[in-house]
Amino acid sequence: MLREYLLLPLLAAYSAAYTIKVAKSGGNVTSNLQYGAMEEEINHCGEGGLYAELIRNRAFQGSELYPSNLEAWSAVGESTLALQNLSNPLSSALPTSVNVKGSGTIGFTNVGFWGIDVQPQKYTGSFYVKGSYSGSFKASLQSSSGKTFASAEITSKSVSSKWVQHEFTLTPKTTASTVDNVFSLTFDASKASGGSLDFNFISLFPPTWNDRPNGMRKDLMQALSDFGPKFLRFPGGNNLEGETIDTRWKWNETIGPLIDRPGRPTTWGYEETGGMGLVEYMEWCDDLDMEPILAIWDGLALNEDIVSEADLHVYVEDALNELEFLTGSVDTEYGALRAKYGHPEPWTINYVEVGNEDEDAGTEALDTYKSYRFAAFNDALAEKYPYIQVIASTIDMTMPGSAGGDYHQYDVPDNFVSEFDMWDSYTDENPILLGEIAALEYNNGVGLDWSDYTASLYPWWIGSVAEAVFLLGAERNSDKIIGATYAPFFMNLDSYEWSPTFLAFDSKTGSVTKSTSYYVWSLFNNNHMTNTLPATSADAFGPLYYVSGLDNKTNSHIWKGAVYNSTGEVPVSLTFESIGQGTTADLTILTAPDAYAMNEVGDSTEVVKTTTKTIKAGKSGVFSFSLPNLSVAVLTTN
Ligand SMILES: *[C@@H]1O[C@H](CO)[C@@H](O)[C@H](O)[C@H]1NC(C)=O
Ligand SMILES: *[C@@H]1O[C@H](CO)[C@@H](O)[C@H](O)[C@H]1NC(C)=O
Ligand SMILES: *[C@@H]1O[C@H](CO)[C@@H](O)[C@H](O)[C@H]1NC(C)=O
Ligand SMILES: *[C@@H]1O[C@H](CO)[C@@H](O)[C@H](O)[C@H]1NC(C)=O
Ligand SMILES: *[C@@H]1O[C@H](CO)[C@@H](O)[C@H](O)[C@H]1NC(C)=O
Ligand SMILES: *[C@@H]1O[C@H](CO)[C@@H](O)[C@H](O)[C@H]1NC(C)=O
Repeated sequence: MLREYLLLPLLAAYSAAYTIKVAKSGGNVTSNLQYGAMEEEINHCGEGGLYAELIRNRAFQGSELYPSNLEAWSAVGESTLALQNLSNPLSSALPTSVNVKGSGTIGFTNVGFWGIDVQPQKYTGSFYVKGSYSGSFKASLQSSSGKTFASAEITSKSVSSKWVQHEFTLTPKTTASTVDNVFSLTFDASKASGGSLDFNFISLFPPTWNDRPNGMRKDLMQALSDFGPKFLRFPGGNNLEGETIDTRWKWNETIGPLIDRPGRPTTWGYEETGGMGLVEYMEWCDDLDMEPILAIWDGLALNEDIVSEADLHVYVEDALNELEFLTGSVDTEYGALRAKYGHPEPWTINYVEVGNEDEDAGTEALDTYKSYRFAAFNDALAEKYPYIQVIASTIDMTMPGSAGGDYHQYDVPDNFVSEFDMWDSYTDENPILLGEIAALEYNNGVGLDWSDYTASLYPWWIGSVAEAVFLLGAERNSDKIIGATYAPFFMNLDSYEWSPTFLAFDSKTGSVTKSTSYYVWSLFNNNHMTNTLPATSADAFGPLYYVSGLDNKTNSHIWKGAVYNSTGEVPVSLTFESIGQGTTADLTILTAPDAYAMNEVGDSTEVVKTTTKTIKAGKSGVFSFSLPNLSVAVLTTN
């Protein structure tokens, strides 16, 4: 009686013990890409984000949707700023300039993208000016209360007949305590003919990642580099599509000299400059050693306008031109253009995705995608680039040949967990990209509710664990999965349309904050299996979910697991057929104080706790350990 009495509560607590035996061989070969990144223009990643330009509205670009304006600019001294379209503009892409007129010391300031971070480092700037002027210009970085951090005198080369570019550098000696700073450019009106000058394309960059001119913000790239994404899906989803056919992302308008890029109205409520264009995306891939997954426009815009079958060839041709631009030899028309723009060496494109979410834009979109749009691009690519893995933007269709599909899932945590086994019965003929994955809303018993959308601001722990469960299911089938990416990647807290994201930040250098999901995805990404190994267990998946395998380069055996919704600690007895008693393994366990814990910008408290310990295989090679409720773990043998 006594014995039983003592055992009962123990039995209850240990009812979910798992005994797992991993075979020596017989698993699936896994994709090298596994974990990557997804770029979506918005403040997530484009202007005022990853792209390091500090001057907002630098060339007064506008469109019917977002007409040119003087946002972010203010007049200095006794002056007026007036937008104008001169008969001899800086370029046909940048028709609008600003006329600055007045008396005394006049000019303008720019407040940047929700502030300008001032650090003791070299800023590189330039501006174009037109008008006869015999004085000098003064460029400076100042606090909003007028304290000057750095300034430069620039001797005028300005003339009345044409636009002349002036360059300068600014090197502050101190760090400004806030980002409440401005860039200022002034001149002496008495030395300018008529007391006025015309300006356009005023630009200022801090040091960039890899010191690339027109490059990326260093702290954000560092955070990405720490994650080590294996691929980049670009130029986004809705961003690629455009609000209308005419405002789609046009690759040919994002290349070449910056003053020849007209920019466009984005899907996200503002005009973009085009400064972060196709070549910049490719350089981004080069810099972080990511495989490009190039998305091409496929005849569908967000307003659900669809290009007819008869007219589609224009866009197929355009996509082929884009590929020639990226991959063609310098003897080809577009390869030569790439060389002219500084990249004689062709890039390699192994993956092309046709469009974005063609199943989400009404029945006509999916119907036309199935009946002619996908095939038109797929056939043309197969003919000219047979080695390219073409990926459809959906899995809601029968994919021809070996074409892949793209699965996006935004949902509540419980639903990610219930999709753990969704790839087990999936065919391996058509590999799947998990191109946008994120837990967005709290569990509510009904799943994600777009009509009453109350997404979390940041990824939170139970959501991140649920993503882990889903990813484990994908890794078990990683012969069928091209790779997976959280989406979107970046959020500028000062202006965003979408939350949560992988990384959040504001204008201040160093503000970039890694989310709970970042820690989970990193742990999995940093422990890549080349092959899975089949495992047997009498215990069904849930509350413990796992995958086992091998890195055949190091011969390390790997086990990844996550516990979701358990009533207590889950004991695990794990054996690998080829690992004997005495072998050691590193066990890393991620936990958080509670299900709703999140990492927030400005709060240095790290909610994800990482515990790593070395454990030894006991009798019969058994690794014994236990995992708490809501935890994510990786074990690697030494
Ligand atoms: C590792 O596994 C991959 C995929 O199965 C295979 O292509 C590769 O040759 C293997 N390498 C070694 C060293 O066994
Ligand atoms: C410049 O031209 C554009 C396009 O025609 C027009 O929308 C805009 O209003 C013009 N701006 C000015 C200041 O005249
Ligand atoms: C870019 O290509 C499109 C065709 O897709 C064309 O309509 C447009 O004029 C081109 N833009 C430039 C600047 O050449
Ligand atoms: C979590 O546990 C509760 C209670 O056991 C159960 O009702 C629910 O279905 C579980 N949820 C998931 C996603 O397993
Ligand atoms: C390998 O894939 C098959 C289905 O193709 C799946 O049933 C199996 O569980 C996978 N193996 C491992 C070790 O996950
Ligand atoms: C496990 O975590 C889930 C989610 O927070 C919670 O609903 C459940 O009560 C937890 N179980 C225990 C025993 O803490």
